[in-house]
Amino acid sequence: MMFPGNRKIASLLFGLTFLVTPAFAADTPKAVRSCVACHTFDKGGPSKIGPNLFGVVGKPAASDANFAKYGEDFLAAAGTGLTWTDDTLDAYIADPVPFLRKVTGKASVRTYMITRIRRADERAEIIDYLKSLKD
Ligand code: HEC
Repeated sequence: MMFPGNRKIASLLFGLTFLVTPAFAADTPKAVRSCVACHTFDKGGPSKIGPNLFGVVGKPAASDANFAKYGEDFLAAAGTGLTWTDDTLDAYIADPVPFLRKVTGKASVRTYMITRIRRADERAEIIDYLKSLKD
């Protein structure tokens, strides 16, 4: 026997998918919530504890001209020619301190960017989100 409700539910879900998909694609993944205390993501957004991250993918490190508080060790890393790609971002947000040690060759580094995203799938979501932020 058919359950008459199922078709209604199916078409309702179909309708919802249709309505919700565009908004969802542009939506902020959950993992990005661990960044918003220190970063803004909108174009021209203000500095917080960290720089604005709009359009950061593909740029050289430390290129937010409005952010005056890059740390010395971070600037040293940027000075080596560090650019934000999938790979560098993945390593950086997995664990910023060892990443900066490796890039600068310094045994100890200081940074306020201490957020570690342990899960590779969450890092991938964050990086996809960062890539979507461009003109
Ligand atoms: C406690 C504050 C804080 C949190 C939380 C934080 N950051 Fe940062 N972030 C910073 C600071 C400060 C810098 C500048 C680096 C420095 O001076 O060492 C930075 C730098 C960056 C940069 C390099 C930007 C540039 O201009 O080169 C990226 C990319 C970045 N953060 C991504 C993230 C992501 C993604 C998250 C969330 C998973 C996050 N940050 C969470 C403080 C934070």
